[in-house]
Amino acid sequence: MLFIFIFLSSWLLLSHSCPLTDEYLSRCHCGILTNGESYIKCEENSLNEIPKFKRSFPYDELILTNNNIKFLTASSFNNIKTIKRINLVGNALSYIDEDLLRLLGNYLEELTLSGDTEIDTLEFLTRYPLKKLRVLKLNDFNLNHVNLQNIFINMTKLEVLFLQSCQLKQIPQLNHIQVLNLENNLLSKSIFLSTTYAQLNLANNQLSSIILQNNPDLISLNLSRNFLQEFYSLTISNKKLSVLDLSFNHLSTIDWTSLNENLTYLNLSHNHFQQIQINSHPKSLTSLDLSSNQLKTLENHPLYEQLTYFNLNHNLLDCNCHLKWLTNLTRQALFTCSSSNDFQCQSMLIPRLLNFNITYITMASKTGLLIEWILIDNHQTLSFVEITIDQMLIKLPANQTRVFISNDIQSNKYYYVCLILIHKYSRDKYCRDVQTWEPLIVSQLDFDNNEIVQSDGKSDHHVYLLLIGTCAGGLLTFILLLTCCYLCYQIHKYKTSNCQPVYEQCSQQYPYPVYHCPHHQIIYNSENLSNSTDSSHIETSLSPTQNRHHQHHHSCNHSKHIYQTIDSQDFSTLNGQNYQIFELWNQSLKHKR
Ligand SMILES: *[C@@H]1O[C@H](CO)[C@@H](O)[C@H](O)[C@H]1NC(C)=O
Ligand SMILES: *[C@@H]1O[C@H](CO)[C@@H](O)[C@H](O)[C@H]1NC(C)=O
Ligand SMILES: *[C@@H]1O[C@H](CO)[C@@H](O)[C@H](O)[C@H]1NC(C)=O
Ligand SMILES: *[C@@H]1O[C@H](CO)[C@@H](O)[C@H](O)[C@H]1NC(C)=O
Ligand SMILES: *[C@@H]1O[C@H](CO)[C@@H](O)[C@H](O)[C@H]1NC(C)=O
Ligand SMILES: *[C@@H]1O[C@H](CO)[C@@H](O)[C@H](O)[C@H]1NC(C)=O
Ligand SMILES: *[C@@H]1O[C@H](CO)[C@@H](O)[C@H](O)[C@H]1NC(C)=O
Repeated sequence: MLFIFIFLSSWLLLSHSCPLTDEYLSRCHCGILTNGESYIKCEENSLNEIPKFKRSFPYDELILTNNNIKFLTASSFNNIKTIKRINLVGNALSYIDEDLLRLLGNYLEELTLSGDTEIDTLEFLTRYPLKKLRVLKLNDFNLNHVNLQNIFINMTKLEVLFLQSCQLKQIPQLNHIQVLNLENNLLSKSIFLSTTYAQLNLANNQLSSIILQNNPDLISLNLSRNFLQEFYSLTISNKKLSVLDLSFNHLSTIDWTSLNENLTYLNLSHNHFQQIQINSHPKSLTSLDLSSNQLKTLENHPLYEQLTYFNLNHNLLDCNCHLKWLTNLTRQALFTCSSSNDFQCQSMLIPRLLNFNITYITMASKTGLLIEWILIDNHQTLSFVEITIDQMLIKLPANQTRVFISNDIQSNKYYYVCLILIHKYSRDKYCRDVQTWEPLIVSQLDFDNNEIVQSDGKSDHHVYLLLIGTCAGGLLTFILLLTCCYLCYQIHKYKTSNCQPVYEQCSQQYPYPVYHCPHHQIIYNSENLSNSTDSSHIETSLSPTQNRHHQHHHSCNHSKHIYQTIDSQDFSTLNGQNYQIFELWNQSLKHKR
């Protein structure tokens, strides 16, 4: 409680005694961090210059990010000599006085500046020794022609250097710097990399190929968003490499032998990999990102079992049996299937015939064909089996593996025997010629009843006959109907007035209306349509087939449908009697409604 009180009051005290001239007090505030460090922070987009300090004051950090400050003069930091960190990121500086840091050399530890891409000298960094400078971040400078080795040679404490968007075409050799960030520069083509950095970020450049030669201290290398088609590394001289980001490149292969054992993180996402062939694998790798490539499938490898993070999203994975192992990893991989087959393969789903033997035998005084087969049907897709012998067809359950056919088999003949496997995906037919010369005498075999066929295969002929009969019957009926229609038409031609409307109750027995006239209208009413105000439909029907089709639509199994066939003439031309009947029917309709 006391602590909080002290903390709050000191914060209030500080903010009230912000050492700024009045005009800046409303836009800036001074504060203190929990670790006791004090800072001055100004609102974004509120400043055009460095605020004026009333008096010297020991602040640790000056934060003026994302403002419109253009000039840094020799006196800009005059009253904050002891400042440790200055952050001016997001200001497009166009001028920096060479004497800017004249008083700051003994304290300044971190400096972050962004230019307007025009500043092409770093003289302000070398004028006076910066004994404490540890972190320097510059972006949007034009450093293409600056000799960077010279600039940093006397900054013995400098560890972290960011030179982002600085139009650099080469990687500088800067001793004692550990972290070098060269994102978004103009590095291009092929490079042979030999450095002393521990972390190197070359993301967002235009490199097309890289060979890591001798980088004994390199732990992390970021090559994301380049145009790399090749990546090589000599494992012996890059022993410490542990984090490698190759995302957003044009890689389609990688030599896994060139990835050393200490690699823990490998990002290959957004590349052009169509396949991955691991010939040697980093024993420490735990994080592998292969997302957004063009992988259709992937072979299992012990490597994948050791990963704690494994991303295969956004590939073209065909999730068939070859990827079954993916579902079986101890730590689940991230993946999406672009075509899903339930991790099954068609070829594995289809039953296979291993053996199909036919022997002509005599057994227990019966002579016939013993047909045996062996099937592999691991996924039980087989529905049943059929055997055809010439015209005979025998249907058998899926689990049966032999049958003895003694009926209708004569000796000294050729038979054409087929085994047809009817399964979920299609039917496969295997056929054989058999000759019945000398029956083989065999002792009694142990047969189930269903394994012996001796009553007729003729019944199957019957089935065929029945089928043909039905078809023929149908055809005949159709022809008859046509003839009838034709006749009706002829009669109608001469005796139109004799044609009476007929009412038919549609029922199971009479699914179709009876057509008395060749050309007629059907009016029917369905209670299923009772929601609409007028539920009567009138259609001109031209042919019975069309009617039948119609019938089919409004299933008339319910006896609720009423059909009427009337003459095609206008109602007005109906004679008195007919008109009366029509009225009557109309009323009955209304009544029904
Ligand atoms: C580095 O320091 C040495 C000696 O202190 C001095 O002679 C040299 O000019 C300095 N170099 C740069 C680039 O500041
Ligand atoms: C590599 O750099 C890119 C671009 O700045 C960044 O998004 C990514 O996180 C970096 N990768 C690693 C492993 O730090
Ligand atoms: C890298 O692995 C080697 C063994 O291959 C080992 O001797 C070395 O200590 C490891 N380096 C680091 C930084 O882990
Ligand atoms: C790999 O890189 C991509 C693109 O930079 C990034 O989105 C993803 O998070 C990275 N993966 C991991 C595991 O860091
Ligand atoms: C799944 O894992 C079990 C035990 O770890 C193993 O026996 C089995 O073969 C694996 N299945 C596949 C498809 O890899
Ligand atoms: C089928 O014939 C092959 C040789 O043609 C034989 O090896 C096999 O044992 C026979 N199988 C059966 C079930 O009779
Ligand atoms: C085949 O399956 C049926 C039940 O579906 C069973 O009654 C019969 O014994 C089985 N036959 C064989 C030869 O396994």
